[in-house]
Amino acid sequence: TPSRLVWRDSVDSTNDEARRLIANGSAADLLVVVASLQTKGRGRRGRTWISPEGNLHCSVLIGIDGRLGQAAQLGFAAAAALVDSLSLALPLTRLRAKWPNDVMAETGGGWKKCAGMLLEPVGSQWLILGLGVDVAAAPPAEGMNHPAVSLAELGYRGDSMGVLEGFMAAFIPAVTLWRDQGFTPIRQSWLDRSRGLGEPCVVRLETETLTGTFTGLDEEGALILDQPGQGLRRILAGDVFFPPV
Ligand code: BTN
Repeated sequence: TPSRLVWRDSVDSTNDEARRLIANGSAADLLVVVASLQTKGRGRRGRTWISPEGNLHCSVLIGIDGRLGQAAQLGFAAAAALVDSLSLALPLTRLRAKWPNDVMAETGGGWKKCAGMLLEPVGSQWLILGLGVDVAAAPPAEGMNHPAVSLAELGYRGDSMGVLEGFMAAFIPAVTLWRDQGFTPIRQSWLDRSRGLGEPCVVRLETETLTGTFTGLDEEGALILDQPGQGLRRILAGDVFFPPV
């Protein structure tokens, strides 16, 4: 399936540009909005996403046909697709998906984040999947939740469009799989590529910090945390940390 590409030099946020396309009737399934740079890139939980030229900033419009309750599942399809496509480009680097929608790379200095996703549904017909990959440059560590690493530092010699092409080649079949078979195969493929399954972790929520074992993922995309002595708890929004290896 070919998908259409809309190119912009500079935008506030490609997710906002995608919203404008929906608002003026120009949305199409699997249309991709790419920008060389973003002036107001945003991350999960209200954070800023530093978006210099050379990195990949794009948003994919996905028709969800009223399946708003299942839309979060596509974030796991996307993270698994990105792990697969980046693994082809960086055969010597271990890459893993980290809940909910990050991609982490193993470096000499521990696991570092190289990509993140921000999912925003618009009504019950569209999902905007915003994808940011630190292709050329990683933001400085200060004030960051996780240390970051760029693909360039990992040895990647291509550009951001090469990353986008590889990602879409893996993601489009995953969306078809999701439409045909639902979450079951997507969840399994994400769990197979995930970081820390069955391992102890710390989960930082808005007002509390939990510890437990990361044991799985439910239909809504919630992380299932097994808390010693307290049983299972579903986490829908939070930041997960694994002890350094
Ligand atoms: C995160 O890790 O917190 C998610 C980061 C998502 C960044 C991408 S860059 C393209 C799209 N536009 C945005 O403003 N954010 C997403």
